[in-house]
Amino acid sequence: MTDSIQVHDYGAAEYDKSASDYEWHGHEIIFGMCYDYLQPHATLLDIGIGTGLSSEFYAQVGLEITGLDGSLEMLKQCRKKKFAQKLIQHDLTKFPWPVESGSFDVVLSVGVFHFIHDIQSILKEVSRVTKPGGFFAFQILDPNDSHEIQHQEPVKQIRDGFEVIAHPLTYILAALDNHGFTKLKQVGFLAKHSPQTDEEFLCRAIIAQKSRAE
Ligand SMILES: C[S@@+](CC[C@H](N)C(=O)[O-])C[C@H]1O[C@@H](n2cnc3c(N)ncnc32)[C@H](O)[C@@H]1O
Repeated sequence: MTDSIQVHDYGAAEYDKSASDYEWHGHEIIFGMCYDYLQPHATLLDIGIGTGLSSEFYAQVGLEITGLDGSLEMLKQCRKKKFAQKLIQHDLTKFPWPVESGSFDVVLSVGVFHFIHDIQSILKEVSRVTKPGGFFAFQILDPNDSHEIQHQEPVKQIRDGFEVIAHPLTYILAALDNHGFTKLKQVGFLAKHSPQTDEEFLCRAIIAQKSRAE
């Protein structure tokens, strides 16, 4: 089991409270950005669904939710909320994911990509499972939060004592393009390193649309 899954198994029961302690609002920002593209009964795949903090909003406006996550304990917390149609334990770095090709109107991923180095393989799989014309809504950490160093490739960083992977915006936009997605919206916002500090890091929320051509 990868460390990023194990750490969530340990922290699952406190996860929602901890997101609130960090004053984390990334899930709300992305939902607001997506709202125009959502239809009742549309199908949504949340990759790294965790406790369902992000995708519960989409269930509330009538979408049908499938969630993948490596952590059984996070899935257990999510199951208690009773909004998801299907929850599957799966390591996202293992391909193919156990879902049908071209079956989702929306793919969502919040708070997950900083655990994954090989985003190219993830985007290839997101493209496989998304319907033509469907949407991909996600969030990344961007390492280029100052003008001093401009990274071109994903880099490992230490945030609040944990190793994370930060993905430069230009790298992600090029990868989206390579995998048949067009960026519709992009917003940068700051999130706190820990509840005890005012130090912040740069996140990006991105909504992209898959090409309609097969
Ligand atoms: C910070 S939580 C975010 C949860 C949820 N998306 C949210 O918005 O609150 C990260 C989630 O990604 C999952 N995760 C991390 N690495 C994973 C991997 N390689 N495969 C599957 N799930 C993974 C963790 O188990 C955890 O539930």
